[in-house]
Amino acid sequence: MTTETQATAAASGAGATARFRENKQIGGGTSQERVNALAGRLLKAVNDIVLDEKVTYDEYNAFKAWLIQVGEDGEWPLFLDVWVEHSVEEVANDNRHGTKGTIEGPYYIPDAPTQNTPATLQMRKDEPGTPLLFQGQAKNVAGEPLAGALIELWHADDLGFYSQFAPGLPEWNLRGSVIADGEGYFEINTIQPAPYQIPTDGACGALIATAGWHAWRPAHLHFKVSAPGHQPITTQLYFEGGEHVVDDIASAVKPELILAPTRRADGHCREVTYDFILDPED
Ligand code: DHB
Ligand code: FE
Repeated sequence: MTTETQATAAASGAGATARFRENKQIGGGTSQERVNALAGRLLKAVNDIVLDEKVTYDEYNAFKAWLIQVGEDGEWPLFLDVWVEHSVEEVANDNRHGTKGTIEGPYYIPDAPTQNTPATLQMRKDEPGTPLLFQGQAKNVAGEPLAGALIELWHADDLGFYSQFAPGLPEWNLRGSVIADGEGYFEINTIQPAPYQIPTDGACGALIATAGWHAWRPAHLHFKVSAPGHQPITTQLYFEGGEHVVDDIASAVKPELILAPTRRADGHCREVTYDFILDPED
């Protein structure tokens, strides 16, 4: 049987690319004027680098070969979500007062199985990792509870792999949609994820190795939180003191998004409380 440790960049990249194509409208509604402005600036920036750095034909051809390889490995979603999405998110959520957003990344799957709180994410029997109780309340910016808010949560396992993007994992492993109670409270049992290493055997990995960078994101929980009449938020939460919290390759950590779970007196489970605050729809 193929196991998750045999995951390849090409397989996870192809999955991320297929997922993106199914779900996103590409280029919808962008005017000619805007395309002219943005594509023009992008090309000017590239040409400025060529001229400033006196880029050689060897370097130009290496770059061309690398771009081709990113496509062949299906790694455009990975590349863009690691190195560009954080700025797009900054622009998109600039005017919010509630919970800080951060990047979605390439591994969200809509319509994960729904449960009412208190919930336990689907996981394997003896799922490796420290059990984690994640709890809190969904509120609006005035502090009022958001009854029945939906908390969608997905995260990597204890080896850093995501279900549906690595072989050998059950379909909805460590993914779920949890409905908060009438006061917005939720309790979700899961395990603490491991740091995530972006695939090293594809074109992105080659860039990282050749440039002398590292390939790691800190351990993180992904969320989409929504409630009627409110702007949904896409965010991630991290773990205080964890590896790569201070040097996330995806530049997606914000100080407001760092959790400090405590050990429960009754065993090896850790628990943490975090409230989600949603802005009203404009
Ligand atoms: C990538 C993976 C993630 O889990 C994430 O949160 C962001 C980016 C990636 O491989 O591109
Ligand atoms: Fe992630």
